Amino acid sequence: MTSNSVKELLSKNLIVQEVVVNGWVKSFRSNRFIALNDGSTLANIQCVVDFEKLDEHVLKQIHTGAALKVSGTLVESQGSGQSVEIQVKDIFVHGGANPDTYPIQPKKHSLEFLREKAHLRIRTNTFAAIMRVRSALSFAIHQYFTENGFYYFHSPIITGSDAEGAGEMFRVTTLEGKNPPLNEDGSINFKEDFFGKETNLTVSGQLEAEAYAMALGKVYTFGPTFRAENSNTSRHLAEFWMVEPEVAFNDLDDNMDLAEDFIKKVVQYILQHCGEDLQFLEKRLLDEEKSKPQAERSAMPLIEKLKFVAENTFQRVTYTEAIEILRNSKPNKKKKFQYIIDEWGADLQSEHERYLVEKHFKCPVILFDYPAKIKAFYMRLNEDGKTVRAMDILFPGIGEIVGGSQREERLEVLKEKMAALNIPEEELWWYLDLRKFGSAVHSGFGLGFERLVLFATGMGNIRDVIPFPRTPQNAEF
Ligand code: 4AD
Ligand code: MG
Repeated sequence: MTSNSVKELLSKNLIVQEVVVNGWVKSFRSNRFIALNDGSTLANIQCVVDFEKLDEHVLKQIHTGAALKVSGTLVESQGSGQSVEIQVKDIFVHGGANPDTYPIQPKKHSLEFLREKAHLRIRTNTFAAIMRVRSALSFAIHQYFTENGFYYFHSPIITGSDAEGAGEMFRVTTLEGKNPPLNEDGSINFKEDFFGKETNLTVSGQLEAEAYAMALGKVYTFGPTFRAENSNTSRHLAEFWMVEPEVAFNDLDDNMDLAEDFIKKVVQYILQHCGEDLQFLEKRLLDEEKSKPQAERSAMPLIEKLKFVAENTFQRVTYTEAIEILRNSKPNKKKKFQYIIDEWGADLQSEHERYLVEKHFKCPVILFDYPAKIKAFYMRLNEDGKTVRAMDILFPGIGEIVGGSQREERLEVLKEKMAALNIPEEELWWYLDLRKFGSAVHSGFGLGFERLVLFATGMGNIRDVIPFPRTPQNAEF
């Protein structure tokens, strides 16, 4: 007999039928009730068993975490708390879970404890809910771009170029089996690199996306990217996923319109499709925040916050306007900013970004027209000669969620900017070709996928929204 998912059983369409379900024991009580979950949905199916009729060997193995196959009749539940339940006829134990050693017991575990158990934490309600929302967001991203005429293309992971020019790359080295090339002292010869060439793990698929946009018009890439920055913050990972659309003939205004519409639509998608998980995560957050001082609590419950973003216009301000606002502000009555922006041209610190978003505008903010010297080489220089057509989107509680720009399409200007930053033309000869043959205005942006998942789930640490986080401390799993 084929089995059903817990989600299908809870939809009540199979009532009074013989059913089979596979799953893991969440809890069991009074030697009679097993709460079984298979990951298909947040809720468990209650299985009512007559333990006296059950084989003793089977009984002994029913503990939290054990994998079971349960057969029985699906009936309306007499008890409160669930609408249907299974009157069990038979149980097969796929695999037990020793209660003395299985770490995920039916009690509250701290997120720090669960981070050490990245392979098992997905069996908790919190992580299952987060990862279902992550999966839904990922689908919504592909759906949005497909419906809007974009082509999905796969940018390479191994690359010879540093797209951001920030030198934060992981080098790729060839280890030929058990015999890597060695130096005379016996240490590994890292100079051998990728079959004799110097290559890195990509920091961004943007440069390749530009090549594809200049032929397919509207493209996007969505894949893992790598940064060798030694940042131990709750917003940085060494390996993170980035969504990068690139559009030929779009200027900076079009780019801002696209980014805003895109974010709103994917947030709307999860509001429509992940209601149960979002309600669970909202309640979790409210419980967690009860122990925090009022000032540190979120201003809005999670779902209200998501609706707010989906329905309200993002505030657009230039860097220069933002600096004026910061200069004229006092973040709180006693204290000024730790870093005061008194010189035009300085990069914003996260405390400034938070002030603009959370205190001043109280909504997502798109900052644009940044000083050229704090932004990457490929951004389109404005007519003033000192700002570039860059844009960052700042989100409440997150900070920068998107970084993008209109790209420099003029060959000579691009060459000058590269020369000023000592970027050799030979390294990016193919990128320069795009400006020699059929060059045109084009724009794009990169959205940090985990930062979007952080926002969507209300979680506080980026390590909790990616399955197996890679940070300077942790790449164990
Ligand atoms: O601002 P970034 O560095 O921009 C780029 O890489 C551009 N080439 C993108 C483009 O125009 N196609 O990164 C883009 C976004 C950031 O806004 C942030 O959300 C996320 O990627 N991000 C990180 N997320 C997690 N961990 C890190 N270490 C991140 N670095 C950037
Ligand atoms: Mg950035």
